[in-house]
Amino acid sequence: MARVEPVRVAVVGAGRMGRAHLRALRRADGVTVAAVVDPVPAVRSELEAAGLHVFAAVDELLAGLPDVDAVVVAAPTDLHLELVTQLAAAHLPILCEKPCGLRPDETVQAVEAAAAAQVVLQVGYWRRFVPALRELRERLMAGAFGTPLLVSCWQWDAAPPSDAFRARSGGILLDMGVHELDQIRWLTGRELADVVVRAPATGDDPDSVAALVELDGGAAGFVSLGRMFPHGDCCWVELMGTEGHARELFMWGDAGERVFEDALVAQAEAFAATVRGAPQRGATGEDAVRAIEAAERATRSLVAAAR
Ligand SMILES: NC(=O)c1ccc[n+]([C@@H]2O[C@H](COP(=O)([O-])OP(=O)(O)OC[C@H]3O[C@@H](n4cnc5c(N)ncnc54)[C@H](O)[C@@H]3O)[C@@H](O)[C@H]2O)c1
Repeated sequence: MARVEPVRVAVVGAGRMGRAHLRALRRADGVTVAAVVDPVPAVRSELEAAGLHVFAAVDELLAGLPDVDAVVVAAPTDLHLELVTQLAAAHLPILCEKPCGLRPDETVQAVEAAAAAQVVLQVGYWRRFVPALRELRERLMAGAFGTPLLVSCWQWDAAPPSDAFRARSGGILLDMGVHELDQIRWLTGRELADVVVRAPATGDDPDSVAALVELDGGAAGFVSLGRMFPHGDCCWVELMGTEGHARELFMWGDAGERVFEDALVAQAEAFAATVRGAPQRGATGEDAVRAIEAAERATRSLVAAAR
């Protein structure tokens, strides 16, 4: 059998998430890390010393393009649209971190840029690659819980992010909430309608919020987000149906990091397969538009409640 050449992936942005992608890409089958782009000299020196090809900007990467087949964008959220547009124009398939823009119109423009260039745009909603959640979704779709009544999704981080990160993240509902909103939509196959949000504290970017989400077809979603959890970065989901119940603590304590990285590996392998022509398995740009639209409605609800 002919050997399939690995998909050569460049990572744009080598901060917390870019490095998680680098670790996952090294473990993934059918993928190799071709280059890293980051404007910070110390980051580049460190990665160059580890044997990686480094560039200070996407322009430089594109000038030396022949060795790159696809790109992971893990730069700050306020750069997603600009980078996706630039990379799509260079005809590179893109796996962009969530939320893929700061506002719905930016995500729409990113989707349009990818469509115009006819390149793959996948968005990094890694929950779709967690085996426990895939199984939960299959059981739900097969009717194992009867009619779904309530899907509760919880994401509690150990500690708040830096002020520098917050300033470019769009706030807790955009930064963290989009994961839960995409997860509810993906798990149930239902669209997200009205969203009502409250926070126990005031301020521009509260460290804890609760959201009630109306789903098409009558079920309800509940999202709880927080940034001060004693058990580390944790996520869990609870499902109530007319004929069943399930609770999945799929990311919990010290074991959580492995679940996260395994999902990134599976996500990278799915992306590489799509680059080679297989159907897209991860979140599409259109999925990202639906998630960020709901996050924006949620943010408006929070702002209105604070007045
Ligand atoms: N899917 C997830 O669970 C998850 C988790 C964390 C972060 N994220 C997303 O990943 C993105 C990055 O977050 P982070 O926590 O890694 O932030 P970070 O601040 O730790 O890292 C961002 C990196 O991008 C680099 N950068 C800045 N401008 C750049 C440019 N023009 N080109 C290339 N690189 C550039 C910075 O120097 C930095 O190294 C955000 O969009 C965030 O929403 C996703």
